[in-house]
Amino acid sequence: MAERSIRAAFAGSGFAARFHYDALLRLHSVRPVITGAWSPTAENLERFTGQRGIRAFKNINEMIESADVIHVCTPPSSHEPLVVEALQKDRHVIVEKPFTGYFGDGTDSFSGDRFAREKGLEYALHSISRMIEAERKSRGRIMYAENWVYAPSIIKEREMLEKTGAQILWMHGEESHSGSHSPTYGIWKYSGGGSMIGKGCHPLSAALYLKQAEGKIRDGNPIRPAAISARTHAVTRMKGYRNEGHLRSGYTDIEDFAQMHVIFGDGTFADIFASELVLGGVHNWIEVNTSNHRTICNISPNNAMQTYTPDEKHFKDVYIVEKTETKQGWSSVSPDESWFTGYQHEMEAFYRTAVFGDPLESDSRLAADVIATIYAGYLSAERKGAEVSITLI
Ligand SMILES: NC(=O)c1ccc[n+]([C@@H]2O[C@H](COP(=O)([O-])OP(=O)(O)OC[C@H]3O[C@@H](n4cnc5c(N)ncnc54)[C@H](O)[C@@H]3O)[C@@H](O)[C@H]2O)c1
Repeated sequence: MAERSIRAAFAGSGFAARFHYDALLRLHSVRPVITGAWSPTAENLERFTGQRGIRAFKNINEMIESADVIHVCTPPSSHEPLVVEALQKDRHVIVEKPFTGYFGDGTDSFSGDRFAREKGLEYALHSISRMIEAERKSRGRIMYAENWVYAPSIIKEREMLEKTGAQILWMHGEESHSGSHSPTYGIWKYSGGGSMIGKGCHPLSAALYLKQAEGKIRDGNPIRPAAISARTHAVTRMKGYRNEGHLRSGYTDIEDFAQMHVIFGDGTFADIFASELVLGGVHNWIEVNTSNHRTICNISPNNAMQTYTPDEKHFKDVYIVEKTETKQGWSSVSPDESWFTGYQHEMEAFYRTAVFGDPLESDSRLAADVIATIYAGYLSAERKGAEVSITLI
């Protein structure tokens, strides 16, 4: 264990803050001192900090001043101001996905169902530019907390690209499950969209990352996305939807299904699905078809461990896998979810960058490309799938 000390603090005290915190406890090359957390929900904050014996900050400034690395684990609508504020104070920022977006015009009548997607795209691109400009002026870095980039199966695929010199011809991937737990998810003004941004950003980031890597390996030039055709649907809000209570419903103004066909600068492509309409737990995978190998990365579920019980009462105290509806019968267990999803690997990598200056894989450029692609996707979906060019920043 290195003795170099670095201080960490959290914005947010919900689900993401918990898994960030847990991942910090498992770092092996750096030992961060956790100074505390701030979030606007006093009750959550007390619970999060009280259970961990860390300080509950009364305001953001105190929290940012207290640390060298700020973890932004709050709803997407708050990412830009928090990231910019931390960068202005020369802090490193680990920001959760999605990086940023368009969150409405601030009026009570705003609805994610009705605004002009061109306006959303334009605003999202400006938001990205402001964040990247703040990073340029800062001694801190933006570390884009896209765990798929650090999932062991994606890291292994990157190694295979490097050692085989393969060209990725096409990819398909998905992130789906039965619906987010977060109370702000489903309300566009907080989440910046539905399945396409909230879930699709994960496999999309992996696809963009691997294509960037292919180009860098070949001649130092990342291959980046050029155009997108996309469709979205709001199935749980359809009049005829048959609600049997297994899927989360009640979304205010977002889509619950998205399909993206992304074309890269070299003419190859990726097909990404994302939805809130899948039973059986988190369904996270990407298949990579290359000129010399074909890889299927099963992030969740995978068959590392399988178990059977005739009655789920036996497993009442046993964690099986994220978002499974039942533990009865056969289950694919994730014996170490943080490991398979890349949560602990991303934190190890980020803190190595912060302390030792190691190169950063999941950076603001990747984050920017993901958001530029998704909001071009929303414009395409408004045009019923017509191809839209992606503006790269
Ligand atoms: N990488 C992943 O696998 C993953 C998984 C879940 C969530 N996330 C991301 O993490 C972020 C937080 O999601 P979550 O699931 O923890 O949500 P959550 O609802 O569980 O927690 C959100 C936290 O943010 C705070 N908050 C609410 N409104 C705020 C505001 N306006 N400004 C500042 N803070 C505010 C709340 O007090 C709460 O502590 C989101 O960007 C989400 O997309 C990532």
